Amino acid sequence: MKSLALLSLCGLFAICTAQRSPFEPLWPDGPGKKVTPQEPSRELEKILSNIDPDRIRHTITKLVSFGTRHTLSSQTDPNRGTGAARDWIASEMQTYADASHGRMKISTPSYIQEPDGDRVLFPVRISDVVATLEGSVEPNRVYVVSGHYDNRVSDPLNFMDDAPGADDDASGVAVSMELARVMASHKPDATIMFVAVAGEEQGLYGSQHLADLMKNTSTDVQGMFDNDIVGSPVGDDGHSDPFIIRMFSSGIPPTATFDEVTRIADLGGENDSPSRELSRFMAEVAQNHATKMRVQSIWRPDRFLRSGDHIPFLENGFPALRFTEPNENFAHQHQDIRVEDGKQFGDLIEFVDFEYVSRVAKVNGAGLWSLANAPGVPRGATILADTLGNNSTFTWTDDPNAHSYEIVWRPTDQAFWTHAIPVGKVTSATVMLSKDNVNFGIRAVGKNGLKSPAAFPVPSSSE
Ligand SMILES: *[C@@H]1O[C@H](CO)[C@@H](O)[C@H](O)[C@H]1NC(C)=O
Ligand SMILES: *[C@@H]1O[C@H](CO)[C@@H](O)[C@H](O)[C@H]1NC(C)=O
Ligand SMILES: *[C@@H]1O[C@H](CO)[C@@H](O)[C@H](O)[C@H]1NC(C)=O
Ligand SMILES: [Zn+2]
Repeated sequence: MKSLALLSLCGLFAICTAQRSPFEPLWPDGPGKKVTPQEPSRELEKILSNIDPDRIRHTITKLVSFGTRHTLSSQTDPNRGTGAARDWIASEMQTYADASHGRMKISTPSYIQEPDGDRVLFPVRISDVVATLEGSVEPNRVYVVSGHYDNRVSDPLNFMDDAPGADDDASGVAVSMELARVMASHKPDATIMFVAVAGEEQGLYGSQHLADLMKNTSTDVQGMFDNDIVGSPVGDDGHSDPFIIRMFSSGIPPTATFDEVTRIADLGGENDSPSRELSRFMAEVAQNHATKMRVQSIWRPDRFLRSGDHIPFLENGFPALRFTEPNENFAHQHQDIRVEDGKQFGDLIEFVDFEYVSRVAKVNGAGLWSLANAPGVPRGATILADTLGNNSTFTWTDDPNAHSYEIVWRPTDQAFWTHAIPVGKVTSATVMLSKDNVNFGIRAVGKNGLKSPAAFPVPSSSE
C-alpha cells in the first residue's frame, strides 16, 4: 500500500528524480544544444493555409467519376477509364501551372508495357503525369511527391466494373495535385515534382518508369514521398486517429551490396539509412501548429504483404518514404462494391475525410517545402577511425549553398537526434564525444536557418 502511494507520488509530482527509469538513456547530456523542431517559415505557413479541403473533395470526386481507372481500361473514351483520368489530371495541373510564370511544366512520361504473364494481359501504355516546379537555385536537386491514379476491384484483372478508388489512391493523387496548386506561384530553391503515377496495382509500373528515368538522367533525387491510402483516419471498428499519419521508412537500403551491409552492421548504422535520416527530418518539420498532425515513424519499408511506389525509388538508390492512414479498413480497399450481411464493401468516396486528406497534404507540404529550401544533404561525410580516443573527427565536402554546418548526435538507442553542435562554415570538425557511444550525423544549415537532413558519416583514416 505504502509503496503504491509512493509510486503514484513519483508519477504525479516527479519528486523521485534519483530513481530513474531503467529505460531512460544513460547519456542524456553532452556537447551541443538540444535539438528542437524546425518551425515553419511565414511563407510555408501561408502555403499550407491555402490547402483547401473543398478542392481535395473536387479532385477525388472527379477521379471517381471516371468509373474505373484500371490500367487495362479504355485510353480513348473521353469519359470513362484510365485515359480520361490521365488527360483530366494533366489539364487540371496545367491550370495550376499558369500561376507559375513558366516555372511549372507538365509532362506525361510514358512507355508501352508488354504482357507480363501476370496482371498485364495485352500491350498497354503506362503514362505518368508530372508537374515539375523548377528550383531557382539548384534545379537538379529534386524532391518527388506521388500518388497513383490507377485502381482496381477484387479481381486485379477486372477492368470493366466500377472501381471508385477514392481512398486507394485518389486521396494520394489529390495530395500531389493540391500541393502543385498551392506551390505553383512560389519559388523553391530546389525542384519539386508533383506526380500522379499509373500502373501501381498491376506491378508498380509507372513509378518504376519514373524512377528509372531519374536514374538514367542522373537526377539528384534527395527525397520521394509516396502517398497511398491517405483518405481516412477511421478503422473498421470505428476507431479514429484524425491527427496521425503513418510514415514508413526503410532501414538498410535495398541497393546495399554485401560489403556495404557488412560495413553498416559493423558501424551500428542500420538505423541511419538516407531514408531514416529523411524520416527524422520529417519529424522535425511536419509536426506543428501549421499541420496539426503527428507523424508516426514506422521503421520498415512498408506494411506486411504490401508494396508501393516508393519501392522503385529505393531500388534506384533514392531515399523514399511511404505515407498511409493510421487505421486501414480492408473492406474499403480493392473490393467489388457490394453489401454483405449489412456491411458495405468498396472504396467509396463516402468513406473519405477531406479535412484529413488536407492535413496529410500539409505534412507533405511542410516536408517538401522545408527540404527544397534547406541546403542538400552534405556529401562525402566521413568519421576519422584510425585511432582510439574520446574525440570524434569528421570531414565533408563544402556545399556553396550551405551557410554553415552542424554535427548532430544521439545515444545509439534513441530514435531522433538529441543534440546539435554548430561548427560554422568549415569542412572538418572535432567533437569531444566518443564515437563509440553515440551515432553522429552532419547537416548543412542554410542562410534562412533551415537544416538539411543529416548525412551519416562513413569511416575514413587520416592518411
Ligand atoms: C534506363 O537505362 C537502361 C539502361 O540503359 C535502359 O535499359 C532503360 O530502358 C532506361 N529506362 C528509362 C525509363 O529510361
Ligand atoms: C577517455 O575518457 C575516459 C572517460 O572519461 C577516461 O577514463 C579516459 O582516460 C579517456 N582516454 C583518453 C585517451 O583521454
Ligand atoms: C581531445 O579531447 C581532449 C579532452 O578529452 C582535448 O583536451 C583535446 O584537445 C582534444 N583533441 C582535439 C584534437 O580536439
Ligand atoms: Zn494503392
